[in-house]
Amino acid sequence: MNERSSSLRHLIGIKSLTREELLSFVNEAETFVEVSERSIKKVPALRGKTILNVFLEPSTRTRVSFEIAGKRLSADTINISGSGSSLSKGETLLDTARTLQAMRPDILVIRHGSSAAPQFLAERLRQTSIVNAGDGMNEHPTQCLLDLLALQCESGAPLEKLSGMTVAIVGDIRHSRVARSHIWAHRLLGNTVRLIGPPGLVPRELADEQCFGKHVEIHHHLESGLKGADFVIVLRVQKERQKESFISSFDEYSRFYGISSEKLQQWCPDAFLLHPGPANRGIEITGELLYATRSLVEKQVRYGVAVRMAVLFRFGSVRHHFEDDESEEASSADGIIGGEIEA
Ligand code: CP
Repeated sequence: MNERSSSLRHLIGIKSLTREELLSFVNEAETFVEVSERSIKKVPALRGKTILNVFLEPSTRTRVSFEIAGKRLSADTINISGSGSSLSKGETLLDTARTLQAMRPDILVIRHGSSAAPQFLAERLRQTSIVNAGDGMNEHPTQCLLDLLALQCESGAPLEKLSGMTVAIVGDIRHSRVARSHIWAHRLLGNTVRLIGPPGLVPRELADEQCFGKHVEIHHHLESGLKGADFVIVLRVQKERQKESFISSFDEYSRFYGISSEKLQQWCPDAFLLHPGPANRGIEITGELLYATRSLVEKQVRYGVAVRMAVLFRFGSVRHHFEDDESEEASSADGIIGGEIEA
C-alpha cells in the first residue's frame, strides 16, 4: 500500500483514486473472498468497531452486502433508513450525520439520491470515514470495484494486465452512477469504454474531452457497440428517473437495445456479461440470460461481499483524529469500565 492509500480517509468515488489505489482495493478484496466460503464466516478484524449503514434510497444488494461484510469482520453494524429516522421529520442530512457521529461510529456508509451527498459529508465530518454506497447519478464505487473483482477472478488475468480491453456499457447511461464509476476506472486501467444506447440515454457530450474524454466512444447502434467487446455491462433502464421522455417506449428500447444470448453470440461471443442489478427482465436483458453460463450476475453479488469487507477493513483500521479528544476522561473511566474486551 502506498503512502496515499494508507492516508485515504473516505471512499467517495473512483474518480478520486489513483490507479494503485484502485488496484489495491481489488487485490485486497480478493483476499477476503474465501472468508465467505468458510463454515464459520467471521474474522475478528473489526471487533469493537461500529459501522452505520445509512440508506436513503432503496437497495437490496448493496445494503445487505455492506451489513454482511461488517458482520463477517465482527464489527457492530447498524442500519438506518430515511423513513425510520428523523430525516422524515425534516432533520437535515448534516444534522443527522453530526448526531450519528457524536455516537462515535468508525464508518458511515451512505446511499443518497443526491449526487455529491457523500462528498458533502466527508468535507464536514472529521471523525468518521464516509463510504459512498451510490449517490444520485454520480458514482457507485463499490459496485465498480466488485465488477472489476469479478472480471479479475473469472477471467483469470490480473486487473493490471487487463489493459487495452473494450468494455461495452449498454443502457441508461444518462442516469447511471455505475457507468460513471466504470468510466473513471477504465481510464485508469487503459481500457476503451463504449457507451451504447439511444441518444436520449447516451448524451454525445459524455465523450467530450472536458467530460470523460478520449477513451470513451458513443454508439447508438447496438451492433457497432458490441462488436468485439471483451466485457458487456448491461444497465437497468431506470424507470423511476424517466420523467422526461428519454426513450420512446420500453418495447422499442427492448427491440433495439435489449440484450439476448443471440445478440451476444453474434457480435461478441467471448465477452463476459455483467449487470449490477436489479434487472428489468424483458427490457434491457432477457430473463434467461441473467443466469446463463456466460453471465456473472450472481458472481458479482458474491464478490460484492468481499469488496465491501476490504473497503470496511481499510477504513475501520484508520485512526481518526478527534477534535474534541476525550482521552483524559476516557482514561479516568477506565477503572470503572475496564480495558478492552478479550476474545
Ligand atoms: N447494484 C445495486 O446497487 O443494487 P441495489 O440497488 O439492490 O443495492
